[in-house]
Amino acid sequence: MSRYIIFIFLALVTFACASKDNKPNADTASAKPAIDGAKIFKQNCELCHGADGKLGANGSKDLTVSELDLNERIAMVTKGKGVMMAFENILSLSEIKAVAEYSITLKK
Ligand code: HEC
Repeated sequence: MSRYIIFIFLALVTFACASKDNKPNADTASAKPAIDGAKIFKQNCELCHGADGKLGANGSKDLTVSELDLNERIAMVTKGKGVMMAFENILSLSEIKAVAEYSITLKK
């Protein structure tokens, strides 16, 4: 019987610790401002690609017809190519991912 009580006690302690650990994570996640891919695009990409991705200024490619997948776009934005600068020191990884995802939504 006493073994059961110890087991239940340990289970409760484990459960209590686990839920304590989860709480701060949930709080920090909700405290972070949501990353807005559209806004990042407006601030960093519109200059060459245009609001609709079609501008093609400075020899940039029309993003509405780009066949690159998400990973290729993330690589493109991170490292840059030719006239397009690398954004690895300008945007965070999650911002790069958000803007790459947004650029796919421009596809027609
Ligand atoms: C200085 C102008 C400039 C800016 C700013 C710029 N780009 Fe580009 N982008 C280019 C050029 C030029 C190319 C073509 C590069 C090449 O292939 O040589 C290109 C290519 C791309 C491609 C690949 C298209 C394809 O199919 O090959 C993607 C995706 C892309 N840009 C996304 C972005 C995103 C997202 C941003 C903002 C974070 C951005 N670009 C900002 C000039 C720019």
